[in-house]
Amino acid sequence: MLEEPRKILVTSALPYASGSLHMGHLVEYLQTDIWVRFQKLRGHLCTYVCASDAHGTPIMLKALELGISPEELTSEISAEFVRDFAAFGVDFDNYHTTHSPENEALTVEIFEALRKRGDIYTRTIEQAFDEREGMFLPDRYVRGTCPYCKTEDQYGDACENCHKTYTPTDLIDPISVVSGTTPVKRKSEHYFFKLSEYGDRLRAWMQEATLDKNVVAKLEEWFEAGLQDWDISREAPYFGFRIPGTEDKYFYVWLDAPVGYPASFMHLCERRDDLDFDEYWRPGHDTEVYHFIGKDIMYFHTLFWPAVLAGSGFRTPTSVFAHGFLTVNGKKMSKSRGTFIKARTYLDNLNPSYLRYYYAAKLGPTIEDIDLNLDDFTARVNSDLVGKLVNIASRCAGFIGKRFDGKLAEALPEPALFAEIAEASETIAEHFERREYSKAMRIIMSLADTANRYIDDKKPWVMIKNEDQLDEVQAVCTQGLNMFRSLMIYLAPVIPAVAEDARAFLNEDSWSWPCAAIPLLGVTINKFTPLLTRVEAKQVENMIEQSKESLAEHETAPEDDYISIDDFAKVDLRVARIDKAEAVEGADKLLALTLNLGDSTRQVFAGIKGAYQSETLVGRHVIVVANLAPRKMRFGVSEGMVLAAGPGGKDIFLLAPDDGAEPGMRVK
Ligand code: 2FM
Ligand code: ZN
Repeated sequence: MLEEPRKILVTSALPYASGSLHMGHLVEYLQTDIWVRFQKLRGHLCTYVCASDAHGTPIMLKALELGISPEELTSEISAEFVRDFAAFGVDFDNYHTTHSPENEALTVEIFEALRKRGDIYTRTIEQAFDEREGMFLPDRYVRGTCPYCKTEDQYGDACENCHKTYTPTDLIDPISVVSGTTPVKRKSEHYFFKLSEYGDRLRAWMQEATLDKNVVAKLEEWFEAGLQDWDISREAPYFGFRIPGTEDKYFYVWLDAPVGYPASFMHLCERRDDLDFDEYWRPGHDTEVYHFIGKDIMYFHTLFWPAVLAGSGFRTPTSVFAHGFLTVNGKKMSKSRGTFIKARTYLDNLNPSYLRYYYAAKLGPTIEDIDLNLDDFTARVNSDLVGKLVNIASRCAGFIGKRFDGKLAEALPEPALFAEIAEASETIAEHFERREYSKAMRIIMSLADTANRYIDDKKPWVMIKNEDQLDEVQAVCTQGLNMFRSLMIYLAPVIPAVAEDARAFLNEDSWSWPCAAIPLLGVTINKFTPLLTRVEAKQVENMIEQSKESLAEHETAPEDDYISIDDFAKVDLRVARIDKAEAVEGADKLLALTLNLGDSTRQVFAGIKGAYQSETLVGRHVIVVANLAPRKMRFGVSEGMVLAAGPGGKDIFLLAPDDGAEPGMRVK
């Protein structure tokens, strides 16, 4: 039974209109598009909107560097996005830009509403100012020497060597990245949003939003650390919306970026009579709003955004779905290895359906990273899509076309076998609904195995030689094609282009989810043409080669897999004695260790509880990274890292120095 049609609005994060889309971006857009297509196939009114994120300093400076206006830059890049998205089958109902009248009107409305209720205040802050360019400098646009460890050429917000955080004005010998001159300190008035007042409302939202447990854990951590008020203004020159009542202050890009969601929807409402803005964005309606995002922007979407909405008379999101990052061949995408693959480079070499399927086969609902292993990609696409799925159709279609004038039999010879596939419908649907795509793909492929086994067993290619068995051939091939058809309907959200071709081959006008349970009988179908070809290793190799080439122009220092001896020398390894080891309340794996380093004691949280009883640890010598920057954890501050080997759980082995080592000794 299908549910009542739901009214659902879905968004993906708005890509910055400053560079090309790549394989990492596509994880999110494909994950979202699959979910949206699934909802539509189930008969819901599901609307998918997105936009280019057009504002902010990096875009302004990039346009300056290219000698064009930021409007020109962002509209050129948006046009490229639109082409790439369409080629990958990402089917937005609307694609807009944050530099739009709808966005400006909504941002101002939100700001005024927050101001009216007293949630906006101004404060004077001191910032680095580039006198030559006449602009305040964001933290990352100032570089200089770390005030703590004195490492040169560090960003203005944190030191890559000692990991301490600071502000650009603390740097020694600071330099503006924009002009190369020394910035001065200058005071200016900024607008702040009182996020600190929203703790209770955000906790309540967190309870009702059914978030993934990792997202909840992150939120708990942030609540514990305390919510800080948020600076929502930037000084001119800035590409963005001017704050009403000011001459030279603009809304910070991260304030108006998420407003791009309702703004894009508002833009769509102008041409769609069945959509009403208020029904989706004001409280008290029976509609659902979901944001798909990457785990790196959870803070903005689970704290700032719901708070801003709640405070300004808008509804809050039904939920926020965060995904992990993409690695390629097990590593961070790398320009020098050719694994930083642009969407366009992929399209020049490979069929987008392959990637859609591969990501689906890997994706779950958590923030765990996923890996695009290119050998596995080739093997899995060839074995699952070509070898299993399309193979069902190619083994049956020829006989129906040539020997029966394209006519399917009037009845299924094995209704129980068909029912097996039909009955999987709700389980597969639940997996899609919960974004457990990998589980859905596993079931579909195991049903494809069942279908292939049936054909292997019946051997229509043998029966066809016997005139007496022609009816049976027609029946077996009708059975096979019906199993193929149901599986194709289940896969339609994942590989829509292939599903379209399959539907046209089966001579049907449209498919909805329930069609998978109703066999297609007694009708004439069209001539079969191969739906997908195998991935050739050469295509993947070419894509890697082209990724190396296309990036050579922009790349300076290619990153590699090694750390230098200098990097290694920075790690301060010491012998420590465990003076105390205690379980940490509320943590399954952690022990709080008090370590004696000879001249000091440290508290370190170590995830070794699965392998070591606390009482067996006291007095034991371990090796510790002594100069790791202190990290604030939910349970307290951890001031180092104890070294151990093993995969985890029970298999963790603390590294121990030889006898005679004393606390504080350096490990060489
Ligand atoms: O991180 C990013 O790429 C941002 N452009 C995402 C913005 S999402 C939304 F808030 F607009
Ligand atoms: Zn430092």
